[in-house]
Amino acid sequence: MANILTLLIFTLVSLSSACHKHDHQTLLSIMNSFPPNSFPATWNSSSDCCNWDYIQCNATTGRVDVLQITDNAGIAGPIPPSISRLSALQFLILRDLPNVVGSIPHQLLRLRNLQFLIISNTSVSGAIPSFLSKFSSNLLAINLNGNKLSGPIPASLGDLASLSLLYLSDNQLSGSIPDTLFRKTKVSHIQLDLSDNKLTGDIPKTFDDRKFITVNLANNQLTGDASVLFGKSKLVSDIILASNKLTFDLSKVEFPVKSLDRVDISHNEIYGRIPSQIADVAGLQYLDVSYNRLCGKIPKKLAQFNSSFFAHNKCLCGAPLPSCKQEM
Ligand SMILES: *[C@@H]1O[C@H](CO)[C@@H](O)[C@H](O)[C@H]1NC(C)=O
Ligand SMILES: *[C@@H]1O[C@H](CO)[C@@H](O)[C@H](O)[C@H]1NC(C)=O
Ligand SMILES: *[C@@H]1O[C@H](CO)[C@@H](O)[C@H](O)[C@H]1NC(C)=O
Ligand SMILES: *[C@@H]1O[C@H](CO)[C@@H](O)[C@H](O)[C@H]1NC(C)=O
Repeated sequence: MANILTLLIFTLVSLSSACHKHDHQTLLSIMNSFPPNSFPATWNSSSDCCNWDYIQCNATTGRVDVLQITDNAGIAGPIPPSISRLSALQFLILRDLPNVVGSIPHQLLRLRNLQFLIISNTSVSGAIPSFLSKFSSNLLAINLNGNKLSGPIPASLGDLASLSLLYLSDNQLSGSIPDTLFRKTKVSHIQLDLSDNKLTGDIPKTFDDRKFITVNLANNQLTGDASVLFGKSKLVSDIILASNKLTFDLSKVEFPVKSLDRVDISHNEIYGRIPSQIADVAGLQYLDVSYNRLCGKIPKKLAQFNSSFFAHNKCLCGAPLPSCKQEM
């Protein structure tokens, strides 16, 4: 009797967590769209797919809510549109798959529960599709770092109401940064990384009221004024703008006092002085202003930093650089 009960309970428990049969079928069709034996041996059609590598299921419903395929050079070919049949999916993560190619399929838009779309370090190419803007307000993060994407950043991405993370670094994106980005975002912890692309034009003035915590625009061809990213009362921690063609007067910038941690504005054409107000930034860990056209005495607080962070400017002086020749 006890044995039968145990068996019954065991069966019920495993039934409740077993992989949903539609998801099971879909996963097999995803596997079969890639070369034979490229998936781990756990992807065995007669076992519970909730126990397979790359998969997590909701324990109550048995629906697949995480598909995370990573670090597998055997997986070669385009992203299968059939992924869109995993309708409970919240996390789609395709990372370090050097032989995944082709464009981002529009069928992914059927994933109405998707929160994190991560396609990173693959050979996916083509444009960043404007249909991404049609995802539901469940979508929190888009990470397309390290692919072969080209063309402009769609202005419509600004329509995503819950987007708080947009990483498009290390692609071949061109054109200017749309001033609509994060226009509808209500969240106040925005992370933006557009570094290592071929972006041109000015940093949008509309970024003044975006609640960034990190901004990385390094290694592009951006011009003009970056002072909208600064401001005494902002809560940004990292501002990375190295290796662009930015030209503005740093003397007029007020540094965020509460949160600022890392600033890299090296390799630009920034002029003026380093404002003495920087002494009010309590938590500053890193400041690189090298290779610009700055001048004047370095504020005392910065004497602790490596002199290489101030090198190759027009006429910066004082510790950690040699002392100023006359009072400045
Ligand atoms: C699949 O799993 C079943 C049950 O665990 C096992 O008997 C079978 O040998 C496995 N098949 C392969 C191809 O690994
Ligand atoms: C699992 O699914 C149920 C029913 O849809 C839902 O209420 C619950 O929040 C889900 N659990 C997790 C951890 O997502
Ligand atoms: C990209 O993926 C390849 C293959 O898995 C890996 O060797 C490499 O370290 C990854 N590159 C980055 C920048 O993560
Ligand atoms: C300063 O930076 C240079 C170049 O990055 C490095 O070689 C040197 O070790 C650093 N010095 C100190 C004291 O950290």
